[in-house]
Amino acid sequence: MTKPTYHIFVCGSFRATGAQGVCHKKESAQLLQYFDQEVTDRGLDGLMVSSTGCLKTCDDGPVVIVYPQNVWYKKVNEEAADAILDAIEKGTVAEEHVLA
Ligand code: FES
Repeated sequence: MTKPTYHIFVCGSFRATGAQGVCHKKESAQLLQYFDQEVTDRGLDGLMVSSTGCLKTCDDGPVVIVYPQNVWYKKVNEEAADAILDAIEKGTVAEEHVLA
């Protein structure tokens, strides 16, 4: 396996108890699928998408983190996902969606 240049983490709300949290209720699982499909459609080699446990910023969910930039995004929907992927392709940040 080749290590990714960029890694997108989408909060999947997982907890040790198995309970699902805010981001899951705001359809982060569908968002994860959307990111995966867009990465494939755009041919973005070197970009991996994964889900995470709760990122402890539930009020701003669905939360997405992009590494290696360590940029956190809030209230991400498909439109924001497109902006985030556009920014990665340009080497910039989708400022309007950043979690400050
Ligand atoms: S469930 Fe996503 S930040 Fe808590």
